[in-house]
Amino acid sequence: MVFSSVAQSKHIITIKADQPVAEVQPTMWGVFFEDINMGADGGIYAELIKNRSFEFYKPLMGWQVLGKPATEGDFLVMNREQVNTANPRFLRVTLHNNAKGTIGLSNEGFRGMGVKKDLRYDFSILYRQTASPVTLHIELVNAKGENIGGAKLTTSSGDPANAEWKKQAVSFTATATEAKASLNIWFEGNGIIDMDMLCLFPEDTWKKRPGGMRADMIQMLADMKPGFLRFPGGCIVEGYDLSQRYQWKKTIGPVEERQLIINRWNFEFAHRPTPDYFQTFGLGFFEYFQLAEDIGAEALPILSAGMACQFNTAEVVPLDQIGPYVQDALDLIEFANGDIATQWGKVRADMGHPAPFNMKFLGIGNENWGPQYIERVKIFTKAIKEKYPQIKLVTSAGTDPNGERFDFLNSELRKINADIIDEHYYRRPEWFLQNAARYDNYDREGSKVFAGEYAAQSDKTVSINNKNNWQTAIAEAAFMTGLERNAGVVCMASYAPLFAHVDGWQWTPDMIWVDNLRSYGTPNYYVQKLFSTNKGTHVIPVLSNDAALTGQDSLYASAVIDKNGREIIIKIVNTASSLKNTIFSIDGVKKLNSQGSITVLAGESPEQMNSLDAPLSISPVTESFDVKGKRIGLQLDPNSFSVIRLPMK
Ligand code: AHR
Repeated sequence: MVFSSVAQSKHIITIKADQPVAEVQPTMWGVFFEDINMGADGGIYAELIKNRSFEFYKPLMGWQVLGKPATEGDFLVMNREQVNTANPRFLRVTLHNNAKGTIGLSNEGFRGMGVKKDLRYDFSILYRQTASPVTLHIELVNAKGENIGGAKLTTSSGDPANAEWKKQAVSFTATATEAKASLNIWFEGNGIIDMDMLCLFPEDTWKKRPGGMRADMIQMLADMKPGFLRFPGGCIVEGYDLSQRYQWKKTIGPVEERQLIINRWNFEFAHRPTPDYFQTFGLGFFEYFQLAEDIGAEALPILSAGMACQFNTAEVVPLDQIGPYVQDALDLIEFANGDIATQWGKVRADMGHPAPFNMKFLGIGNENWGPQYIERVKIFTKAIKEKYPQIKLVTSAGTDPNGERFDFLNSELRKINADIIDEHYYRRPEWFLQNAARYDNYDREGSKVFAGEYAAQSDKTVSINNKNNWQTAIAEAAFMTGLERNAGVVCMASYAPLFAHVDGWQWTPDMIWVDNLRSYGTPNYYVQKLFSTNKGTHVIPVLSNDAALTGQDSLYASAVIDKNGREIIIKIVNTASSLKNTIFSIDGVKKLNSQGSITVLAGESPEQMNSLDAPLSISPVTESFDVKGKRIGLQLDPNSFSVIRLPMK
């Protein structure tokens, strides 16, 4: 890093450290989670077996029969929907004195299974048996079909007249690392075995929770220290039609009782079909609340407003039948916050969390629009505020940050004094640069803003050519200085979407990309992380010629003071391809510490990206520098985003 002498400097930038203009909400920078791009199943949910309960439309999708069955129907998909509506199917396997290695099943995983050498894997199964014990020979195999670990599980025989479902488990250690493993189950024995919920989890889940989440992916979120976690989306909240909306009550309790539905991203894009994409709800609302708590984020669940996705069926529930939807919202608050003596508080406690989650925010609808949405929001708001006035409601300003729909929603929601309005912008990088001052003139007194989904698009929105390149990340950084400067208006912001699997995505760009073993942060991730880990407590003015820096001479800036850490934190973006000599003149402090630091995120070209093989190609570099007095000369790299920290004495 080069530091200029004061004499060379051109830009004098004044920081008014003693003139805080707004508080930065602890929720300011958060994360938006949706099960898109194999974000949950095949992503953060560490389950390795795909279609573990045979509930996909094609019951044997992901499975393959090994060997040659002796008679038709030896592998039979059965349906017991009269007695189990949530998980009706199971697989009946009939064995004819089979020896090991003659008949079996293979599961391909989610684009293969990521397996790590020396790690323990836990296999479990629900089964029912009407004859003598059967031995399952379980083996992981690599892409060449070679054994890389396994175990034997011998079932205990049941009472033939009254066979009950039992759970049994076995663990083993993998002998090799493999990104595209699969699992074989060979049968040895005689008679019938009914099988359901075949599960395989690695030992190294997040917090080592059995049946938990993929630790490397969650760690990347935890490292951001996000202020909130929005879940479960996104469009999947609304559903293709109302029957496929996200219903939180169906996502809690024992996993084998959570009713799977198709993931709407399965078929949404003809150009990115993902026929094996379903929501098993192995991760449901309990797990999302727990995750939020783990990473120190406020939970922000979003519920259906009684309107299916308006890009799909656009079904709405009649107003006189909206009661159950509103009740779901009220019950959710009780589930999250209620005492264990309440009906839903008890459900939470029975799942292992007697203490309340202390939920403070709730979203009603995602990207809904029109007068039908406003009508429904009013009903939800009345019912929720009557019972839980302290809950802050998040309501939608639609799909776009301007236009007729946005103007209508924004004005109607402000008329009813909505707590927080959720604005989305998927726009070109230029839009982000041009809109760095978007909130400078927003009303400070009325509804607050949640920049709920945004990402600069290097190509058109939903184009498969969109890239997480430096051009998009630096534009977002410039725009985010505008969000921070206006923290008195904007109380929450999150990039979207969050995760994508390199072999299973539908939507790009995305903040974090993964394969079955690895994950990496895009330049956009590092921009987000630099803002959220340098949040501060109060906004202070950053002025050049008495004006906020919103693009003059290619500079964008904001600053906060951290009252707790007694630091000034300046964020400055230089979008020019030349160095900028600057002097930061710090007003309103008695004395600065003799050392400051500058963290620089910079790309060599607008097209530069990170990748699985070069995950840190664009990543932050921190250096310290000497501070003498209250005028600090710094050179800003071309095409860079810098975070400058100045501790105060
Ligand atoms: O982030 C991807 C999608 O973009 C979300 O599901 C939706 O809310 C928006 O249209």
